[in-house]
Amino acid sequence: MLGSGSGSNCQSIFNAIDEGRLPAEVVIVLSDHADAYILERARQRGVRTELMDCGGYRNKFPLEVQERVAQLLRELRVDFVCLAGFMRLVKEPLLAAFPKRILNIHPALLPAFPGVEAWRQALEAGATQTGCTVHYVDAGMDSGEILMQAFVPVLPDDTPETLHARIQVQEHILYPAAILSALSRL
Ligand code: GAR
Repeated sequence: MLGSGSGSNCQSIFNAIDEGRLPAEVVIVLSDHADAYILERARQRGVRTELMDCGGYRNKFPLEVQERVAQLLRELRVDFVCLAGFMRLVKEPLLAAFPKRILNIHPALLPAFPGVEAWRQALEAGATQTGCTVHYVDAGMDSGEILMQAFVPVLPDDTPETLHARIQVQEHILYPAAILSALSRL
């Protein structure tokens, strides 16, 4: 798993594994932020963690870092790479190492509202419904083949925070189910 933030989606995958809903093992959690809570969740579970030093760049995911990560994940013989709130674009070194084996969760009904703070984009666009999407990752921004989606209505009194919170409830159901579906397609 790769994540930059709180790791609630990572936690939902841990929970699905523990509850027997997902026959999988998380072997490593990597983050680009030393203080990301996703790393703490992994440590509490005894899962290996790794910090990816992106050299102070805010958004760039340097190719040499991606090459090192690809090498490490190959050594660990991982089957799938799951992005969970990871805010940098994955490129060729990782994509080539794991073709059709990298998944991402995005907080909107793609292809609508790719990019950052998709819930805020939906609200500002006056959408009456939004949701979340799990998709295979390609070289574009949130553009890969869609695997599964869940709908979330936008309520008249929604704020960005209330809307994102309701989307996250659906994300935590959707992501483990989508990983299961991706595994069954192998
Ligand atoms: C989630 O809502 C996820 O969909 C979003 O970041 C949040 C991470 O939350 N990802 C993106 O916006 C990627 N474009 P989490 O750290 O609690 O799982």
